[in-house]
Amino acid sequence: MSGLVLVTGATGRLGKALLPRLAEAGFEVRGMSRSPRSGDEVHWTVADLTTGQGLAEALRGVDVVVHLAAAPYKGRYTDRVEVDGTRRLCEAAREANVGHLLYTSIIGADQIPWGYFRTKVRTEEIVKSAQVPWSIVRAAQFHEFMDQAFGLAARTGLMIADPGIKAQPVDVRDLADLLVRRIQAGPTSRTEDFGGPEVLALDEVVRQWLGARRKRRPIVRVKLPGKLGAAFRDGRLATHSTPTGTITWKRYLQERS
Ligand SMILES: NC(=O)c1ccc[n+]([C@@H]2O[C@H](COP(=O)([O-])OP(=O)(O)OC[C@H]3O[C@@H](n4cnc5c(N)ncnc54)[C@H](OP(=O)(O)O)[C@@H]3O)[C@@H](O)[C@H]2O)c1
Repeated sequence: MSGLVLVTGATGRLGKALLPRLAEAGFEVRGMSRSPRSGDEVHWTVADLTTGQGLAEALRGVDVVVHLAAAPYKGRYTDRVEVDGTRRLCEAAREANVGHLLYTSIIGADQIPWGYFRTKVRTEEIVKSAQVPWSIVRAAQFHEFMDQAFGLAARTGLMIADPGIKAQPVDVRDLADLLVRRIQAGPTSRTEDFGGPEVLALDEVVRQWLGARRKRRPIVRVKLPGKLGAAFRDGRLATHSTPTGTITWKRYLQERS
């Protein structure tokens, strides 16, 4: 299959996995970043979602937009990138006659009472009403993300985990493969979940991480209070949806040890 695909957030965790797969599948690939870049398989374009600068140029001639740009947990800047920036992107995509806008959100975004998840839902709504054919994939937490988060947590000298919380971490390589298939299939006007191959208790996720990283830290098992804790323990970060990824947390950790 051919066509020009613009990837926003192309320098991010998922973007890096997606770019080579798109090229291998025969697409012409344009990666978007706020900074100038160069590469063999990818044509790079500079644009900023908060100002709209470079967006019209980035979208010229594009058939499909995969919208991965995000700025989580950065206060007001988060909304400027994700909510206002997505509105800007959608408007530019409509003007450029884009045939498919594929957006990645997070599993449980509409079920978990957490500020950043509300931002994702608001952004999903913008995508759905943009008058550009769309699909949304809600993913579980990425292996890299958990790896980095635990790395930061370990600096405090102990690891806090609610063993009732179920996680279904997913590998960006599996998710990137799914996104390529969804681009090939075309817009669905549907929101689907995509998680990793196994659902694990959070303290087990932490235990495996400590083992792989050869760190000795006590795991303090506490129950996360309130509605947020209840939603997490209710399994809202996990999905029954199929297909799922195939790469386990254990395998990811072994590969990165
Ligand atoms: N991380 C997870 O565990 C997880 C789980 C489920 C779903 N998701 C979703 O999957 C998507 C990709 O996540 P990720 O973890 O791969 O992202 P990431 O590594 O945090 O990368 C974010 C990207 O956003 C771009 N960006 C930030 N501000 C921008 C702006 N003002 N204008 C244009 N681009 C901007 C950055 O590009 P430059 O710095 O090059 O400009 C960067 O490449 C996001 O929608 C995220 O919510 C992530």
